[in-house]
Amino acid sequence: MLILGISKVSRMERLIEYFTLILLVLVSFICHPSYCNLIDSLSTNQSVKDGETVISSDGSFELGFFSPGFSTNRYVGIWYKKTIYPKTVVWVANRENPVVDELGVLKVIIPGIIVILNHTGHIVWSTNTSRTVQNPVARLLDSGNLVVKDVGDDNQGSFLWQSFDYPTDTLLPSMKLGRNFLTGLEVYLSAWRSGEDPAPGEFTFHCDPSGFPQNTINRGPKKIRRSFEGLLQPMKEPPFATKGMVINKEEVYYTYISYNSSFISRLILSNNGVIQRWNWDNQTQVWVIYRTGPADYCDTYRLCGAYGSCSVGKSPACSCLDKFVPKNEEAWALADWSSGCERSKSLNCLKGDIFLKYSGINFPDTEYSWFNRSMTLEDCKAMCLKNCSCMAYANLEITSNGRSGCLLWYGDLVDIREIPNGKEIYIRISSSELASGDKQDGKKRKVRILSISAVTVFLGVSLTIIWTWRKIFRKLQLGKLVHGCMKNGNYESHDEELELPVFEFSTLMKATNNFAITNKLGEGGFGIVYKGMLEKGEEIAVKRLSRTSMQGLDELKNEIHCIAKLQHRNLVKILGFCIQEDERMLIYEYMANKSLDLFIFDDTQRESLDWPMHFHIINGISRGLMYLHQDSCLRVIHRDLKASNILLDTSMNPKISDFGLAKIFAGNETGANTNRVVGTYGYMSPEYAVHGLFSVKSDVFSFGVIVLEIISGKSNRGFSHEEHHHNLLGHAWMLYREGRSKEVVDPNLVNSCYLPEMLRCIHVALLCVQQRPEDRPNMSTVLLMLGNEGLLPPAKQPGFFTETALPVKDHIYASNSKNVISISLVQPR
Ligand SMILES: *[C@@H]1O[C@H](CO)[C@@H](O)[C@H](O)[C@H]1NC(C)=O
Ligand SMILES: *[C@@H]1O[C@H](CO)[C@@H](O)[C@H](O)[C@H]1NC(C)=O
Ligand SMILES: *[C@@H]1O[C@H](CO)[C@@H](O)[C@H](O)[C@H]1NC(C)=O
Ligand SMILES: *[C@@H]1O[C@H](CO)[C@@H](O)[C@H](O)[C@H]1NC(C)=O
Ligand SMILES: *[C@@H]1O[C@H](CO)[C@@H](O)[C@H](O)[C@H]1NC(C)=O
Repeated sequence: MLILGISKVSRMERLIEYFTLILLVLVSFICHPSYCNLIDSLSTNQSVKDGETVISSDGSFELGFFSPGFSTNRYVGIWYKKTIYPKTVVWVANRENPVVDELGVLKVIIPGIIVILNHTGHIVWSTNTSRTVQNPVARLLDSGNLVVKDVGDDNQGSFLWQSFDYPTDTLLPSMKLGRNFLTGLEVYLSAWRSGEDPAPGEFTFHCDPSGFPQNTINRGPKKIRRSFEGLLQPMKEPPFATKGMVINKEEVYYTYISYNSSFISRLILSNNGVIQRWNWDNQTQVWVIYRTGPADYCDTYRLCGAYGSCSVGKSPACSCLDKFVPKNEEAWALADWSSGCERSKSLNCLKGDIFLKYSGINFPDTEYSWFNRSMTLEDCKAMCLKNCSCMAYANLEITSNGRSGCLLWYGDLVDIREIPNGKEIYIRISSSELASGDKQDGKKRKVRILSISAVTVFLGVSLTIIWTWRKIFRKLQLGKLVHGCMKNGNYESHDEELELPVFEFSTLMKATNNFAITNKLGEGGFGIVYKGMLEKGEEIAVKRLSRTSMQGLDELKNEIHCIAKLQHRNLVKILGFCIQEDERMLIYEYMANKSLDLFIFDDTQRESLDWPMHFHIINGISRGLMYLHQDSCLRVIHRDLKASNILLDTSMNPKISDFGLAKIFAGNETGANTNRVVGTYGYMSPEYAVHGLFSVKSDVFSFGVIVLEIISGKSNRGFSHEEHHHNLLGHAWMLYREGRSKEVVDPNLVNSCYLPEMLRCIHVALLCVQQRPEDRPNMSTVLLMLGNEGLLPPAKQPGFFTETALPVKDHIYASNSKNVISISLVQPR
């Protein structure tokens, strides 16, 4: 009965629901602007009323009133028709003068201007004209150009006004970006102030006609990026549009012409000053980003100063061109590259300089340049030689017919970067650079050998002194602190060469309460960790290494010796060790806040950390890892980096633990391939998990996973999403591609003013987890990226992108030589 009753009610409810839904659909159908008044042109006796009328072109555009984002201000704009969703606005009329209610009206009036009126009939915005016509009409052309003309006059040249002359942030195909010398008009893009305010922001995008024309992004009056586009020519790959510079007596402009009307493309200057080309993918019904500029930090204008060349992926990013040296060595060494480089031998224009060919770079800034399309390279060189301030020359064009034309640079060359398929450019250098090279080299070599041997002797002597001194000091100290070595242990020799205190087994037994289960802190792939307290009250953590697969004693001693040498504020400090019979133990400092996973995967603990603390932790981990990879005396690959291996001290400084253990357990592997895979699913890079290939880049992968986990508060392994089967990496990458990275961030964190920093961290993390190891940055680059504001290269698809079901095992420690696979399963700690 009861059940019946409920189902009756719900059936009733469902009926009502359906009815309401149908009503809603009908209402929205009737009242949707696109279905109200559709007109194809606007004459003086018509008007576009907010919410009622829309001008629609034959092509893909519509014009009407709209509100951006959550703003309630009303603007007149042009957007793509409904087939493109979400609504993408390409032009705004009254950018700075919104109508505040939904009662605005757009009209065209004599003498031939378009006006926007508010509800009181007051003009809030208008176009202008230099001519008067009696029958003006406004028409939205298929290209998206809103024009005012005399009725019946279809001559392109006689438009009274056109919106293509006053673009906002979008460059549509066939628009001309540049300068008309006859009218003095400059057409340029200016970014929106924000996503909800179309008023002109601080960034603008210009075609700069000085020298050989180039495109520039300016922030206020300052040039922040430039790009050489070359003369108008067809693209070599799809979509085969034609793009580039058009230069003639009347005008200089950049344009992009699409010959395929079903191909929809737009170039925008985003409100943070990035130029982006978006192409519409009709299959998936989304905008796909095709190109961005700046694309990475090397696109920062003049980053490396004069004659300095920037290279993505190199560390440091800037280097001087061959035959050039830093102008200011000190600043250069400190990564302040702005002073740039100078010739190692200065020019002597009168005695005759020569030109050296450089290739694989972009064309430097062409602001002070000159060009001629019909000159040959020989003429070009002769012309450059004649003028002492001409610093370089090159062929202007490379087309399918070969190289042609001449481009000359006056003054120092700036804004150089290495690019794939780069250009060839001939730079003026001193003729003495080549002629006297050999003699000089001989002399130099002698000097170098002498100085190297002097330094070696000096270093040797000082090292011996330091070593002896430390030995004496240590002996004194150890005598007090440590009770010597195990008497019945295998390890007999004294600790002199180990420089690391030895703990007695009995001391540790006592400290850990007989390795009581209550003292257990956690368990990893290498053994169980116990908390202990020495007699003096000092807290320690004791790692009791598991007995399996232990290597020889001497090797172990060696390794412990090495690990002890690794000292960094972001590594857990080793206090000592103990070897007795079968027991091998490492003694670490005790970390009051335990491990990172207890914080980030726990909702209540998470709340105690604000974003600066998160960022502090991310930075600390990257510093520790960089030290292991690059700066320490040994090159250590961690191979089991994960959130539970990052410990936190009382001030929440992150410290990497378990480093060097992979080395101990896997033995003396110098190669990059191993039969023993030590690691944790969810953190292992594909090449390591699948092929056993490891390198510093496999650690970088794990680092990327940890960063994403820190930001999202979700574990990569346990991750699931109702809409797809991807893991956290795939999820983050898909949102990133759609420009929705914000949704990766833990909702508790996201409402803060640190969003740009969060998005940057996500981007860097995605670079770290890319499928191919060679695409991933190394840790020094990661640090540079995290600490800088420069632009980052786009992230490619992450490793394990299509992974759906992960193995249920958590931690593997497998040895699969000779087809025998043994896996020891251990719980996560
Ligand atoms: C129209 O106004 C713009 C600026 O608002 C001005 O630069 C342009 O010269 C004007 N054109 C005419 C024809 O008056
Ligand atoms: C886009 O795809 C739809 C079907 O998804 C198709 O009907 C339409 O013709 C396509 N448009 C173009 C321009 O290719
Ligand atoms: C035109 O563009 C559409 C959509 O991008 C593409 O499918 C089609 O092949 C293109 N046609 C030509 C002739 O290039
Ligand atoms: C370009 O070079 C050609 C051939 O050398 C010459 O005839 C022409 O006058 C030059 N044009 C300019 C603008 O200097
Ligand atoms: C060299 O070129 C510069 C820039 O075009 C020009 O100002 C200067 O007069 C030229 N010098 C000579 C000697 O032709």
